[in-house]
Amino acid sequence: MAGLARFDARRTELAPQFNAQSGGESEFLGARTKRLNNFFMRAPTTRQMAIPPILLPSESAQALHRDAFFYPFHNPGPVTQQGSLWAVTDFTAENGATRIVPGSHLWDEERQPQAAEVVPAEMPADSAIIYAHNIIHGSGANSSDEQRTAVALNFTLGWLRQQENQFLTLPPEKARE
Ligand SMILES: [Fe+2]
Repeated sequence: MAGLARFDARRTELAPQFNAQSGGESEFLGARTKRLNNFFMRAPTTRQMAIPPILLPSESAQALHRDAFFYPFHNPGPVTQQGSLWAVTDFTAENGATRIVPGSHLWDEERQPQAAEVVPAEMPADSAIIYAHNIIHGSGANSSDEQRTAVALNFTLGWLRQQENQFLTLPPEKARE
């Protein structure tokens, strides 16, 4: 369906759906503002809006950082947490492999990495990188048309509070497994 006809079809399809809605139930939602959920079912012409290539999946690079900032230590300092990042799918520079700055766990906090010091941790699926939490790193930009999947497991000294409280999120019977 060509552009303008597609917009007309969307308007025609959405109008009765909105007419049947009532307004919001709070000041935040707006008493006269109508919202339509589950619109892929109720207005099939909206489905194509979810799949233009411009929305899929490229992602800009994450800022370089130290995970150590979760705790009040300064660098250089004690290694209180060790990270491991497991590649579920291949890690390539193009799909945003995590960027690492080797040796930066020993730097003071003022020193910023030069571009040549930043290395993408390229690796095939089923590999892992292991790193001290105070090394500078960050996800790369994903300029490919594929998704990159990883599992991050961080090992933290027992006297530090974990970022994710597994005593609450993992029931005892699951922990036993
Ligand atoms: Fe991180």
